[in-house]
Amino acid sequence: MSVDVLRCRVCESEYPAIAHGICARCFGPLEPVYDWDEIATRVSRESIEAGPLSIWRYADLLPATPPPDAASGPGWTPLIPAPRLAAAVGVGELWLKLDTANPTHSFKDRVVAVAAAKAVEFGLDTLSCTSTGNLAGAVAARAAQLGMPAVIFCPASLELEKMQATTVYGARVFGVNGSYDDCSRLVSELAGEVEWGFVNVNLRSYYAEGSKSLAFEVIEQLGWETPDAVVAPIASGAMFSKLWQGYNQFERLGLIDTPKPRLYGGQAEGCSPVASAFAEDRRVSPVRPNSIARSLAIGNPADGDLAISTARASGGAIYAVPEADVGPNMAFLAELAGVFGETAAGVTIGALRAAAARGDIGENDRVVALITGTGLKTPGAVAGSVTGTIVEIEPDVDALLDELGVLA
Ligand SMILES: Cc1ncc(COP(=O)(O)O)c(C=O)c1O
Ligand SMILES: [Zn+2]
Repeated sequence: MSVDVLRCRVCESEYPAIAHGICARCFGPLEPVYDWDEIATRVSRESIEAGPLSIWRYADLLPATPPPDAASGPGWTPLIPAPRLAAAVGVGELWLKLDTANPTHSFKDRVVAVAAAKAVEFGLDTLSCTSTGNLAGAVAARAAQLGMPAVIFCPASLELEKMQATTVYGARVFGVNGSYDDCSRLVSELAGEVEWGFVNVNLRSYYAEGSKSLAFEVIEQLGWETPDAVVAPIASGAMFSKLWQGYNQFERLGLIDTPKPRLYGGQAEGCSPVASAFAEDRRVSPVRPNSIARSLAIGNPADGDLAISTARASGGAIYAVPEADVGPNMAFLAELAGVFGETAAGVTIGALRAAAARGDIGENDRVVALITGTGLKTPGAVAGSVTGTIVEIEPDVDALLDELGVLA
């Protein structure tokens, strides 16, 4: 649906709902203002269930009008049980939300769907972003679908697979010699010079809302029940804080009658400004990233403090996962659940294991872990941890039986 007003999440200043991402007074993040009483008169479990099998089934809780191809949009990804992984980790019940099933294989297709719809609404003719890898591909693909040019900025050091999964859509990619934060500064300056739709700059307040659909879907897929705990990776902190808003909004609309989940976040130790600020009970201060989890390598996270208040408000926590555990956790997830997640998933599984080891979650909990991106884009990170083998053989059955240790 369309919205008229954006409000600052920090100082509550209000602005007209135009292509504008941060508060001019305090530089805080802006977000759309909804009329919840009015929405409550229209939205019910039944009205949602009658919607398309994509994020647009929640259009009444998103700040954009659904596009003509809403029915084939991202979202409504599988939520699968993972009993072997649950037993190995020591939690009662574990579900994996497979956002690898989105069109470009990460949850970023959700946020881009909303931002691109706004770009079209605002008449902005180029789609752009600064990216740690997954957003790049999502923006490039959506721009290709819409027939818009895409201009992408990312650190030049990104995984080759992520670059290739972006240029394939015809996008113009600038590999910036520097960190994501250097890229981000460059693009903020550019945004003052050209009238483009920068999905995570001037369209950020709309873009971020797309992540709420992860919370909504999990509830619906559990039969309109909430899990006890949700585990997610954190980079800027936007998705983590929007998850909590999603649970709160469904509660406010009377769509759930079980308690909201505790939210647990993970960061890789080499870029853990949010986890360390959480542990030390202070505000986030910027760090210089040096991490294998490049998709999460944001040293100066825009919504880091909001992620911390989210973890506290929900009764959860945020953990730093050792760098050396990321690849082995990717293999652990693949071998025990049949799911090949990317480095961010290695971090999520690390956070899950940390929470279980500390007794923060356990045998009585129903847990959902968000697998936000595919391992096919970060194969190098898991290479040293794989136990499966490749043996070259001749097409000869006796040789094969010999190799298998089976006597003919
Ligand atoms: C696979 C994956 N998971 C999680 C995140 C974290 O998202 P956020 O920046 O909203 O914290 C990212 C961000 O790029 C990502 O690529
Ligand atoms: Zn403000």
